[in-house]
Amino acid sequence: MRIDVVSIFPEYLAPLDLSLIGKARRDGLLDVRVHDLREFAHDRHRTVDDTPYGGGAGMVMKPQPWAEALDAVVRSGAGRADGARPRLVVPGPGGTPFTQAMARELAQEPWLAFACGRYEGIDERVYEHAAQDLGLRVDVVSLGDYVLNGGEVAVLAVTEAVARLLPGVIGNAESLVEESHEDGLLEYPVYTKPASWESAPGTTRDVPRVLLSGDHRAIAQWRHQQRLERTAARRPDLLHASQPVGALADLDLALATAADAPELMVLTRACWVGEIARYGMFGAGEESVEQVADDLTRWQTWVFRSGGRLVASVRGRLDPQDPATWQIGRLMVAPDLQHRGIGRELLAFAEAQAPAGATAYWLNTGAGSDRNLRIYRKAGYRVRPGEGSFPGTVDLTKRRR
Ligand code: ADE
Repeated sequence: MRIDVVSIFPEYLAPLDLSLIGKARRDGLLDVRVHDLREFAHDRHRTVDDTPYGGGAGMVMKPQPWAEALDAVVRSGAGRADGARPRLVVPGPGGTPFTQAMARELAQEPWLAFACGRYEGIDERVYEHAAQDLGLRVDVVSLGDYVLNGGEVAVLAVTEAVARLLPGVIGNAESLVEESHEDGLLEYPVYTKPASWESAPGTTRDVPRVLLSGDHRAIAQWRHQQRLERTAARRPDLLHASQPVGALADLDLALATAADAPELMVLTRACWVGEIARYGMFGAGEESVEQVADDLTRWQTWVFRSGGRLVASVRGRLDPQDPATWQIGRLMVAPDLQHRGIGRELLAFAEAQAPAGATAYWLNTGAGSDRNLRIYRKAGYRVRPGEGSFPGTVDLTKRRR
């Protein structure tokens, strides 16, 4: 793989000569070329920045030195047998978060170029020039939600994460497999000799016994459990993302309280963007948190969570005008979990909540909501002729068996 780095501080990239990355360069696995941006600035002071148009604090990197530097990098590959152009990565706090998945993706590229911005950033036209005039794929990539002084540290991090995935860079390829982030969980704790270690006078710390047992099954189970516990404690967001949801039974059920109102409001809008645009969704699009909370006093509302996130809900009540009818409403499943049959299960769940006296179910949906209508018809509901209880909707009913 070839890597070009353009920076006003080329010395900052010196660590790329060290350790496994340095060895990979010496072994010919990695061709790293660092360029000084100031070489492409031609005034007496080699100026690379200027004041921002529109005002504001700080300085902005000028387009011309950047364009010349990138042109030179691209031109230097003109004779390549594979005809490849570099993929341009611009580190910046406003970029896409850098992840192990992105490292794997970048490791597939034959050629990466990094543009290290400083100050308030690079003139936006440089990105356009790279993409449109030079035909490069351009990605702005962030190390995390904090601000560094420039892109150099990010280049060191991204280069190390990418280069270690290249064949031959890490001697023991197996050590790449059992790692944090490779399968969505953090790594288990590791220990080495001695098995019993005196960390302070009178205090000994022992390696967990299971690791000395020689029982590989038990060790694998223990390690997996440790990974889950660590991930839950340090990165619950990862655990939630890695939890498979295939059915209603995978979700945690609770009766909604006023504390759920903000998330319910968000879920409603997410589930019904289309409907809200077409019918106004009888005001569901504009409902305030207070209105959602107020509705919880008139309906029994159930919420379903996955890893703490509210992902489905439904509500029911006896019709105030006809106490033999159980009304079902606001049946919703988060868009990313739809098309798995969870909605159908949710409907059956809502029906099962009807009190003993109810002899029929009622629900209401948009007259043009074909998918909903199909699901409800399949579940035994019949459309009542004429307009439904709200403009643009139809009412559906089903006898209770
Ligand atoms: N440059 C400045 N802040 C950065 C960040 N968080 N990630 C990548 N590059 C940056």
